[in-house]
Amino acid sequence: MRLDKFVCDCTGLTRSQAGKLIRQGEIQLNGLLCKQPAQQIKESDVVLLDDEPLRLTGPRYILLHKPAGYVCSTDDPDHNTVFVLLDEPNIDKLHTVGRLDLDTTGLLLITDDGQWSHKISSPKHECAKTYRAWLADPVEDSAIAQFAEGVMLRGEKTPTKPAQLEIINPTECLLTIHEGRYHQVKRMFAAIGNKVVQLHRERVGPLTLDTSLAEGEYRQLTPEEVSLFN
Ligand code: URA
Repeated sequence: MRLDKFVCDCTGLTRSQAGKLIRQGEIQLNGLLCKQPAQQIKESDVVLLDDEPLRLTGPRYILLHKPAGYVCSTDDPDHNTVFVLLDEPNIDKLHTVGRLDLDTTGLLLITDDGQWSHKISSPKHECAKTYRAWLADPVEDSAIAQFAEGVMLRGEKTPTKPAQLEIINPTECLLTIHEGRYHQVKRMFAAIGNKVVQLHRERVGPLTLDTSLAEGEYRQLTPEEVSLFN
């Protein structure tokens, strides 16, 4: 990458402002003054402005209210990806923390910090996720015990981990799971002979979806929120 481009990306200056700064001798590259805007730099180079190191945007932590109709993968020939909803630089560096189905709405975390997302999505950490599910048929009270014990999902060899079901009304419930198998919530209800007609994620670990965020809106997490998963 050119030095002037790097300075722009780090500071938000225009290319001509960055060029001027560099020609004025305000930038050091690896301890030496560098007055060449076109100088090529590599990742390991240290660039100082006013003796302070310049860095590209630090790790980013985004909470998105995912609308239906968007996929969580980075490219899809048939659907919009959730990334088109973000007005952010270097979108290609971001990934979703786990996935929500095309038709599922709700809380989706997006980051460029792989270690952080691993803590949330790895099965070892058993991070709780709460979904509001609307069902085709009335749910029996016995489902509470079935989900607490674990149910066998079609095609799998081990039962689901204990999950907590709260019945709001016969066709609407909150389900908290501590793992993230493929289409898990829909398959759990299918395993007890029901069908999810609408699904919305309200909570991931200690984070609840802000009621002020409309579908498609997002915000950055606060440092305190980020550290809740550490
Ligand atoms: N479980 C599902 O079935 N779908 C989702 O999108 C998330 C969890």
